[in-house]
Amino acid sequence: MRLLFIGDVVGKAGREAVKIRLKRVKRDHNIDFCVANGENIAHGFGITAKTADELFNAGVDLLTGGNHTWDKKEIFALLDVKPIIRPINFPSGAPGKGIWIAQIGEKRVAIVNLMGFHNMGVVDNPFHAILNALETLKNDSIAHIAIDFHCETTAEKNALLKLLEGKVSVIVGTHTHVGTDDLLIASGTGYVSDIGLSGVRSEVIGMDGAEPIRRYLTGIKQSFEPIDRGCSIFQAIVVEIDDCGLCADCYKIKAFDDGEPFISQRHGGGW
Ligand SMILES: [Fe+2]
Ligand SMILES: [Fe+2]
Repeated sequence: MRLLFIGDVVGKAGREAVKIRLKRVKRDHNIDFCVANGENIAHGFGITAKTADELFNAGVDLLTGGNHTWDKKEIFALLDVKPIIRPINFPSGAPGKGIWIAQIGEKRVAIVNLMGFHNMGVVDNPFHAILNALETLKNDSIAHIAIDFHCETTAEKNALLKLLEGKVSVIVGTHTHVGTDDLLIASGTGYVSDIGLSGVRSEVIGMDGAEPIRRYLTGIKQSFEPIDRGCSIFQAIVVEIDDCGLCADCYKIKAFDDGEPFISQRHGGGW
C-alpha cells in the first residue's frame, strides 16, 4: 500500500498548494490514503469546519494536529464527527482521539499523532505514550503503523526512531515547517525528521516575516500573522508499505508556486 503524508499546511496559501495538485499526485503515485497535518490550516492557527472540508474535498483522508489543535474552538465538535485526530499524549480529559484506524484493502492501518516534549506545553511523555499505544495495536494484530511525530527538536525525533526502528512502518516529523533531507529507512521503518510546510516559502515558516523579525530585534513577542502572498511550496512524502508492515520505499515530492510536482529526494537507505 502507498500512503501520502503532507506536512503542516499553513493558511490559505497552504490549502491552495494542496488543492491544485493533490488529486493528480494521488493518481500519479497510486496513493491509497492521504494524511495531512492540519494544525495551521485556518488562517495559520487551528482547524475550522470550512478549512477542513476544503482539504477533504481536495483528497485528504485524515487530518492530524499538534500544539495548535485547540486554537479554534470549532475543533472541539469537529473531533467527534470528522476524520481529524489530535496528539495521543494530551493529558486524559482532552477531547478527541490520537489514533485513526483506516481500512486499506485487506489491511488495517493505524495512524498515530504524537507530540514531543520540547516547547510544546503540557503533554504526557510521548515515549511512554507510543509504547503503550503499540502494545494495544499489537494486541489488535495491527502491524501497519504510521506516526506523525509533531515535535520541535531533531534529537527527540531521532530518539523516537532509534526506539521504534523495525517496530513501526513509518515516522514522519511535522511542526518545524522546515523540511529536512534525512529521508531514510531504518530496519524497515521509513523516517524523515520533518516533511516541511505547504504554503508560503518566502517569509518565515509560512508566516509574515515582519513580526518574527521584530521579535528577534526587540525581544517583544506578539502573534505571528499568516501570509498569502509570496512564493509557495507543496511538500509531501510517499511511503510504500509491504504486507508485513515494513517500509519498502519512500520518497519526497515537491512543487513550487503553480509548477508541476516532482520527486525531489529518494530515501538514502539506512542510517
Ligand atoms: Fe505547524
Ligand atoms: Fe506545531
